[in-house]
Amino acid sequence: MSARSASFSSTTRHSYDRLAEDYDAIYATDDDGARCARYRTLIDRHGAPGDRLVDLGCGTGKGTLHFAEAGFSVTGVDCSTGMLKVAAAKPGASTVRFVPGDLRELPELDPFDVAVMLGGPLNYLHDERELRAAFDGVYRLLRPDGLFLFDLYTLGLRESLLSGPWVHESPGGMVVMRGYPADERLMEVQVDHFSSGDARTWNRTTFRQPQFHLPLATAGRLLDASGLTLIAHHGLALNQEELLPGAGDRDHMAVLAVARKDAASPARQG
Ligand SMILES: C[S@@+](CC[C@H](N)C(=O)[O-])C[C@H]1O[C@@H](n2cnc3c(N)ncnc32)[C@H](O)[C@@H]1O
Repeated sequence: MSARSASFSSTTRHSYDRLAEDYDAIYATDDDGARCARYRTLIDRHGAPGDRLVDLGCGTGKGTLHFAEAGFSVTGVDCSTGMLKVAAAKPGASTVRFVPGDLRELPELDPFDVAVMLGGPLNYLHDERELRAAFDGVYRLLRPDGLFLFDLYTLGLRESLLSGPWVHESPGGMVVMRGYPADERLMEVQVDHFSSGDARTWNRTTFRQPQFHLPLATAGRLLDASGLTLIAHHGLALNQEELLPGAGDRDHMAVLAVARKDAASPARQG
């Protein structure tokens, strides 16, 4: 890992460690049941060889625990020990194995039938070399014919966050998110969480996280180089269960992509 990557990674990890206690309140409006339902629809549609699932970049386990409840045998992996600590304290977490790990150097684990990345963990990787390392790691973790499903944020989301703040309510508070451009692919997303203190005051907590734009076409090419074949993609509207047709980079806020580990081909070089 280069010095730049290591320092970037440490920024992301520390940012998420600081965010961990507030994370679920900030994202309380996420409909986790709907998010997981559309993943499960695609797992059923494309067929996985079994029910062992790894949730990569699992965060506070918002999706992880849904998959466990749905009957999958689940492992969650994340680089932030703060996020994993919150996940492991939740009801139902005793049925899940949580493992600290970096997407770019995924740990050796038992093979899985399904790998998922919900909520855009790939958008934290900042160049093709890191993405390729992540996809090679996913290839190693999957059994032949295993499925890999992941979210990607689009150019549409980047432009929306750069053009003005997103404001939504959280339990007992308010969240404001806004993007600040760094270069044509990188922006920093500032999250301000205002929670009500007493009748007259608000507590404000501010986080900044880097977010890179990764076009689906680039992901498809790198998946292929790692021995994973992109087999489907759909548009996503945030918080809707429906899978939308088409997924141009400006059509929707995010895309959900499905890839399969080719049973025949070993991971390719290059
Ligand atoms: C937006 S959160 C999504 C969390 C969860 N999947 C969800 O949907 O609620 C992104 C997560 O990716 C993790 N992450 C970012 N970069 C990572 C890396 N290089 N390796 C492992 N996890 C990473 C963060 O720690 C964070 O928990």
